[in-house]
Amino acid sequence: MKIVSKISADLSGRVTVPGDKSISHRALMFSAISDGTCEILGLGTGRDNIGTQNAVAQLGIDVERQGERVVVHGKGLDGMTGAGGVIDCGNSGTTIRLLTGLLCGQSFSTTLTGDASLVKRPMARVTKPLSRMGALISGSQDQGNTYPPLVVHPAALTGIEYQMPIASAQVKSALILAALYAKGTTTIVESGPARNHTELMLASIGAPILVQGNVITVTPSGWDRRLKAARIEVPGDPSSAAFIVCAAVLCNAERVTISDVCVNPTRTGFVDILGAMGILVEKECQRMVNGDLVADLTVSRNAAALHRPTEISGEVVIRAIDEIPILALVAATLPGTTVFRDAHELRVKESDRIASTCTLLSSLGVKTDSGPDWFSVEGQPSRQFLSASVDSFGDHRIAMTAAVAGLRSDGEVIVNNADNVETSFPTFVSCMNELGAQIEAG
Ligand code: S3P
Repeated sequence: MKIVSKISADLSGRVTVPGDKSISHRALMFSAISDGTCEILGLGTGRDNIGTQNAVAQLGIDVERQGERVVVHGKGLDGMTGAGGVIDCGNSGTTIRLLTGLLCGQSFSTTLTGDASLVKRPMARVTKPLSRMGALISGSQDQGNTYPPLVVHPAALTGIEYQMPIASAQVKSALILAALYAKGTTTIVESGPARNHTELMLASIGAPILVQGNVITVTPSGWDRRLKAARIEVPGDPSSAAFIVCAAVLCNAERVTISDVCVNPTRTGFVDILGAMGILVEKECQRMVNGDLVADLTVSRNAAALHRPTEISGEVVIRAIDEIPILALVAATLPGTTVFRDAHELRVKESDRIASTCTLLSSLGVKTDSGPDWFSVEGQPSRQFLSASVDSFGDHRIAMTAAVAGLRSDGEVIVNNADNVETSFPTFVSCMNELGAQIEAG
């Protein structure tokens, strides 16, 4: 599929985005090992979440999907059965890494693989600490790392103490899931504020998990090994909302609101970074849904606002890890050079996002510079992006960043190989057009 996006003005209105991708993966997996019938409302509709749904079904769990309402018939901690074939995790790092943790304490073997991008993504970050717990996992080896396909064999697990070398929600979640099946306590010390949906959701359904600052403890001894069947409402995905927020900023929209977005602080680094750039995103009607903070996000035109470049580094990068490409596009319209530091994790996402973001920006006429864990973007407040025909680099977030650039271009931006928008935000084009953007997909 190709997306063509044209210069657009006067964006305004209120939209919703699909359910949060991270919460949806967890809702499906945790429901599968819960005790009984679980209801999930507003489940993410992207390919990644459908992949997790299929994986759970392959593991012997009945899942009924009625649009965004899903019923999962959980069979308890030990109720899953062998997949009877390879599980294809598609493009989804979260699916493969969390399933590796969930499956390494089962009584059957499972083979997990994925698409051309996923088989190049490093898995030692989960297989190494899981092996220390006793897990038996084999994978394809290259230059000291492990890559899919992964074969996860049955094993008896033991709790460990683990100081995380990288801040990763996928890694800590894999360890937490394995810890539920282990003998003894597992203690995980986090190195930064990675998203905490696993901890919140598991605690709310009765898992023996305790979080104190950056230390997570899972203590299965004395636990009845039951997770309560729950009704989970999935709020809108902030990572999808970020594209709309940034499109509104770039088009100087009068007023754009995205309703019911997850604003858990581990996910709203992009709002804080925009704030540092002088761009206000209001969080209205804040409320708690299933232990997670939800709000409506609004961006309004503010002619008096002083936009400024900034240096982005440290913990906020972790809390905005999926939003850096679209923030880099905003940076290209600020009066000066913005630097993104401590961004080494971007190198191992769906694409090498330092390289793909810089290549995309160069095609749009923006000067960039980069190093192993940083990149910089030269801004210009009067900038119109150059018309261009660009590639998505097999990465949904790069495809959507390019499409948003077209809205402030001197003509149009053509995004080739853009069907991967379906990975996380299948309603991206309709959502944008509802607000007045001119985007065509075909
Ligand atoms: C995710 C965690 C992040 C993020 C990914 C989703 C999750 O990855 O980039 O899109 O759902 O746990 P890391 O844990 O590798 O940082």
